[in-house]
This record gives sequence, C-alpha cells and structure tokens, in this order.
Amino acid sequence: MITALRQIPMLDLRLEYEYMKKDIDLALASCLSHQSWILGPEVKELETEAAAYLGAKHAIGVSSGTEALVLALRTIAIRLKGSEYFDQEDEIITTPFTFTATGDAILRSGATPVFADVEPGTGNISAEKIMEYLDKDGSRVKGIIPVHLYGRPCDMSLIMGLARERGLFVIEDVAQAFGAGWNGTKLGAIGDAGAFSFFPSKNLGGFGDGGMIAVNDDETDGLVRMLLKHGGRDKYNVDHIGYNARLDTIQAAVILAKLKYIDELNGMRRGIALKYEEGLRDLHGLSLPAFPSNGEFHVYHQYTVRVKDGKRDELKRFLAGAGVSTMVYYPVPLHKMRVFEGRCRMAGTLAESEGIVEEVLSLPIEPLMKEDDVDYVIENIREFHEE
Ligand SMILES: Cc1ncc(COP(=O)(O)O)c(C=O)c1O
Repeated sequence: MITALRQIPMLDLRLEYEYMKKDIDLALASCLSHQSWILGPEVKELETEAAAYLGAKHAIGVSSGTEALVLALRTIAIRLKGSEYFDQEDEIITTPFTFTATGDAILRSGATPVFADVEPGTGNISAEKIMEYLDKDGSRVKGIIPVHLYGRPCDMSLIMGLARERGLFVIEDVAQAFGAGWNGTKLGAIGDAGAFSFFPSKNLGGFGDGGMIAVNDDETDGLVRMLLKHGGRDKYNVDHIGYNARLDTIQAAVILAKLKYIDELNGMRRGIALKYEEGLRDLHGLSLPAFPSNGEFHVYHQYTVRVKDGKRDELKRFLAGAGVSTMVYYPVPLHKMRVFEGRCRMAGTLAESEGIVEEVLSLPIEPLMKEDDVDYVIENIREFHEE
C-alpha cells in the first residue's frame, strides 16, 4: 500500500492569513474605502504603534528592508560627513554570513564593507573579531552593522560598548528579528538605527515588500523622511539625492493588523524550537543552535541546525523525499560573491563563516504548524541519523 506523503512547507502563509483573516480583511476593506494609497493613514498608525512596541522614539515605514538599510546609512553619512555618500575608504564592519542586502546596502552608501567572522554556536557576528580588527586596523571604521540572524540577538552589550568607546555608529539589521530582545530591550531600538524587513516570509511580513527604520533622535527621523520621498521636505524642490522608498498604505494596513499577533506567533516559534531542541539534542551528527542565554530573547525566525560530516545535502534530500521542505540560509558567504570582489575587506580569516555555509540547514518553523508535523520532522531527522 502506498502511504500518502505529508508535505511540510518551511512556512504556510495561508494558515497565518486564516488565523488573522478578520483583522486583515477589515484592514484591506478600509483601504478600499478611503483609496489613499500613498502615505495613507495606516502608515502613520503603524509607525506610531511600532515605535511604541519597540520602545523607539520614531519608526518610519519604508519600501523594503534593503531600502531601510540604505536610507539609514545615507542619513548617517549626511550627518557624519556632510556629504551625500560615504567614501570608499570609510569602512563599515558587518558579517559575511547574512543575506546579500546587508553588504550591498553598504556598497550603495559608498562605503567599503569589512567582513568579520561569526560565532560557531549562533552564526552571529563575533564581537571579539570586531574588537580584534578595531585594535589592529580600525582607523577607517565608521560603524558596525550587526545582523540578528535567524531572529537571535547579537551580543549588543559588547557591540554597543565597542562602538561607544570608539565613536562608531551601529545600525542593527533586524530584518529577521521583529520582537526579539536583548536584556529586556527590543532589538532595533538599541543602536543608532534599526532596519526591519516586512518581506512576506519574515516573522512580521506584509503582502509584498515593505520595511521600517527605528531611530531615537529627531534629526535622523527628519532626514530619513526626506530621503524616502525623493530627498526633500517638498518633493518639487529637494535637498538630497533621494529615493522613492515609501511604505505602501496597503502593506502598512496588513502589517498593522498582523502586529497584534506578533508576540503570540513569536511565542509559537519559540515553542517549536524547544520541541526541536528536545527531540534532536542527543543526535551526534547535528549541532543545534546554542541555547539562548538569559538576556537573549530569540524569536526563531529560523531554526537552523548544523549537519556534520558533510551530510547536509544528503539530509536535505532525505527530508525532501519524506515531504519535508528545508532551506539553506545561506549557501555563499558575502566575501565569496562576485559583487564584493575588490570591494570589501576581511577582518582576519573568515574560516567559521566558510565552514558554516556548508553545514547549515533551516527546518520548517511555521508558527501555526501542527505539533505532529514537528514530530514528523524530528522522526525523519532521527531516522536519517540512526540508519
Ligand atoms: C538579514 C537581512 N537583511 C536585509 C534583508 C532585506 O530585506 P528586504 O527583502 O525586505 O529588502 C533581509 C531579507 O530579505 C535579511 O534577511
């Protein structure tokens, strides 16, 4: 007899829509009735609610997480240097183990990315490696972009300490970590700016592209608002090289409706992560993500294991055969990509980053997935390792 295969996707956005349908449908209906598509009332409302949620003075809706990074960088360049862009000799330290957009935004702001290696247990940038570079060769460094990868906070005490000591700015890349926290403060509200993404698959995602910048000072807020609308207060008479990077009203409406559920859904993600932890921790062929310490509030945008002995792709295929989707976030570290060739520097060896990309495998972590689907994923991983 042929047993029907289960299909377990990484994420099933239909489940989330069904769960919040009443709120989302109302929000969309309201947009249809007011027809104010550009910077409609929902954008301001979302900005106010998100700022209150994050504990930031301002939150500014923008068109994507990538643009959030670029606008934050450009604003800092204008304020710091009095010029539109950074210069090539200005360095910004970040991780090579992230989505391309983090490094690309640095290039687009005119600066040079300097990649520092990651910690093995978390995949996040190592504060120690940042410090080593600053001590050795840090005179050109202007700032740091820590990426809270997979929804897990970087060590913000160490990173902010280093930055404040040496007069560097910090832009947090919070694209994967809405609602996560460090010692009781929400990520994105700790550095000089926080850049969020509302890409549909993010833990707070819209129905298209969207993003947000959180800042605590009025001047940066004002400048970001100019840059996102072509570069001026008056769009017909502008001061800076700007963008058309506004957040759509319709995306703001959807995100506003979903914001109400973020803590609940992040809680579900944390529950699934705990189940994976309990079900997989004795397997020798896997390294699980380091268990969060007290100050870390991890929201598990991804649950990513490291598969040892060169067996990652084999496990991926085995799980696919059992109907379980998995993803490799990320297969290529940024310093190995053509776009960064001759345009980046390395803060020492990047051995950990080069090793991790060969081993990482992200498991399904749809907050509304059934408990027995999580069990099924665990059983299949166990079967692979115990064979
Ligand atoms: C770490 C990181 N930074 C930046 C981005 C860019 O966000 P977006 O896709 O909204 O432009 C993403 C997501 O795609 C991301 O995961």
